[in-house]
Amino acid sequence: MEKYGVNELRKMFLEFFESKGHLAMKSFSLIPHNDKSLLLINSGMAPLKPYFTGAEIPPRRRVTTCQKCIRTGDIENVGKTARHGTFFEMLGNFSFGDYFKHEAIAWSWEFLTQVVGLDPNRLYPSIYQDDDEAFDIWNKEIGIPADRIFRFGKEDNFWEHGAGPCGPCSEIYYDRGEKYGCGKPGCTVGCECDRYMEVWNNVFTQFEGDGKGGYTELAQKNIDTGMGLERLAVVMQDVDSVFDIDTMKAIRDKVCEMSGKKYQVDALDDVSIRLITDHIRSATFMISDGIMPSNEGRGYVLRRIIRRAARHGRMLGIDGIFMAKLAATVINESKDGYPELEEKKDFIFKVLSQEEEKFGKTIDQGLSILSDMEKQMEADGVKVLSGENAFKLYDTYGCLLYTSPSPRDI
Ligand code: GLY
Repeated sequence: MEKYGVNELRKMFLEFFESKGHLAMKSFSLIPHNDKSLLLINSGMAPLKPYFTGAEIPPRRRVTTCQKCIRTGDIENVGKTARHGTFFEMLGNFSFGDYFKHEAIAWSWEFLTQVVGLDPNRLYPSIYQDDDEAFDIWNKEIGIPADRIFRFGKEDNFWEHGAGPCGPCSEIYYDRGEKYGCGKPGCTVGCECDRYMEVWNNVFTQFEGDGKGGYTELAQKNIDTGMGLERLAVVMQDVDSVFDIDTMKAIRDKVCEMSGKKYQVDALDDVSIRLITDHIRSATFMISDGIMPSNEGRGYVLRRIIRRAARHGRMLGIDGIFMAKLAATVINESKDGYPELEEKKDFIFKVLSQEEEKFGKTIDQGLSILSDMEKQMEADGVKVLSGENAFKLYDTYGCLLYTSPSPRDI
């Protein structure tokens, strides 16, 4: 299997769908346009919602994109596991009332088996429980034996993200082999372990969901596909996690170089190394789209991301502000797909450095106040910081007080 790099894979995907009559569009901004349901773009289809519903006419009825996305729902787990992250790129091919299940399924199979060359014997499709049409396409047209096609319920095979266009889906899993498995009896497609990895999702977008379980049939039948670029790279490069793929490893290595730490030596250091590696990507892309750190909305998400990364930099022992220097690596790794990063690099560096400096001052001020509080406590013979003082430190100076044994549980 060829170990294609992230930038190569992005290009191969877009070119493949261009050859199938799709218009390759630039990634939309992370800032949603006319969509109050989202703070940040969180999937390839999110900026395209009006084309699915028919509210707007698309530039072409077949479109392909590689969309920058941010999801912060699991931010507390970022770093603690090698699975979680906030920033990712989503590859997608879309049909707005044009082709439907036959073409979408056939092209996903063609791309995975013939373009990037995954072994067909390691690929397993899944379908929505009663979608016999998708079953027949996989079975009769593609030739997948019935016992290799998995039927799952709404939780797994019905794609929706809040309100908006949605529908049943058919996913493709790749068997990464026993070395990634849990070894438990019954471990197969759908198991929570790392062996069977979902790489592609073909969504048959035929409903408009109200976000509360109500659905209305859309006037046109659409296709919305999603394939996480980083996930595809994990499979192609046969590495443990997204933190090991070429572009992310370059950032991870830079964090290690700056801190003098090695990855996979100390579990707590690894949490910080992964968290910084992920967060610097989100921060760099958010700033390049014009988001500024602030105390509300998207700006607050950005501020929180920068400050979490800065705090973990201190924990790793990195001296002084470092995020602008690290952003240079992000830009270098991603400018192929996002030339605007290079164009805006000075602005990105400035925003990162200003926010990091501001945070550093706040922390130092907080620590000095804490030291005064401790002196007063000693004079008063008090051993525990009062709730009032703890709140003051948290509220005014952004200091979180850590207790052993989980200082990085933040
Ligand atoms: N919109 C389809 C997916 O993200 O999987």
